Amino acid sequence: MFLVLVFLVAVLPVNAEGGEIIWGTESKPHSRPYMAFIRSKDTKLFRCGGFLVARDIVMTAAHCNGSTINVTLGVHNLKKQKNIQLIPVRKAILHEGFNNETLVNDIMLLKLERKAQLNSAVDTIGLPKSKDWVKPGQVCTVAGWGSLANCNSSNTLQEVNLEVQKGQKCRSMSQTYNDSLQLCVGNPSENKATGKGDSGGPFVCKGVAQGIVSCQLCTGTLPRVFTRISSYMPWIRKTMKLLQEP
Ligand SMILES: *[C@@H]1O[C@H](CO)[C@@H](O)[C@H](O)[C@H]1NC(C)=O
Ligand SMILES: *[C@@H]1O[C@H](CO)[C@@H](O)[C@H](O)[C@H]1NC(C)=O
Ligand SMILES: *[C@@H]1O[C@H](CO)[C@@H](O)[C@H](O)[C@H]1NC(C)=O
Ligand SMILES: *[C@@H]1O[C@H](CO)[C@@H](O)[C@H](O)[C@H]1NC(C)=O
Ligand SMILES: *[C@@H]1O[C@H](CO)[C@@H](O)[C@H](O)[C@H]1NC(C)=O
Repeated sequence: MFLVLVFLVAVLPVNAEGGEIIWGTESKPHSRPYMAFIRSKDTKLFRCGGFLVARDIVMTAAHCNGSTINVTLGVHNLKKQKNIQLIPVRKAILHEGFNNETLVNDIMLLKLERKAQLNSAVDTIGLPKSKDWVKPGQVCTVAGWGSLANCNSSNTLQEVNLEVQKGQKCRSMSQTYNDSLQLCVGNPSENKATGKGDSGGPFVCKGVAQGIVSCQLCTGTLPRVFTRISSYMPWIRKTMKLLQEP
């Protein structure tokens, strides 16, 4: 758990009495066909989210790296693994600037052992252009199989809408926050922003993956810090090319 597992476990509503809390809502099965469930092994097994950006490449957070990594595509309920594609990762490339303490440059690309079969439950998601700048006030969606309010992981994919905040809000919480590399996400005054998700999962704005769930400010409060994908497009293009060489 911890750093790698629990994200967007946010503020408890004041009236929460340890009972049921709605953190997000269950996604319509297979409505987010780009979602990848990631299982990594380091000293122990842990889960992350990710998303398919090419038939054989998944994007996720650098802190989801492990000695072995498996990707599952086409899954909604982890307990019902029918018609899923479980594909081991052949090679992982982390951003060279990744700092495992500040979680700056928290981005990684995974080359799959084989190409995914695209179908109604498995598909790629588009990436932004370098100049696409996500602005405060925009509301986008994050999805994942991360932990629920009761600290148990979810078996079904859940999703929640979160609002992009002004950079100052994150800067006042974290000295290493950098608006040109990161997104400040989640309105602290909005109860419905008490969401959950998984590290490595996508922050999707108008059908485009604009952010990667990270965990820099992984305390109980919002906002959160995500990786700003548009700032990494040159690195992403270069690395995808490298990974797609035979
Ligand atoms: C990946 O999948 C293989 C084959 O099912 C399994 O043997 C291995 O333990 C898995 N590794 C992880 C990290 O889940
Ligand atoms: C990814 O994790 C593995 C296992 O812990 C480690 O051997 C490898 O060096 C890591 N990769 C990078 C680039 O840090
Ligand atoms: C970060 O990486 C360094 C060097 O690989 C390692 O010694 C340290 O334990 C890591 N810190 C965390 C928080 O994982
Ligand atoms: C978490 O899951 C375990 C095992 O499925 C279950 O026994 C436990 O009651 C759950 N905890 C909560 C708080 O729901
Ligand atoms: C933020 O990151 C950019 C790009 O790496 C860098 O040029 C800039 O100096 C950083 N800003 C701060 C305040 O560290």
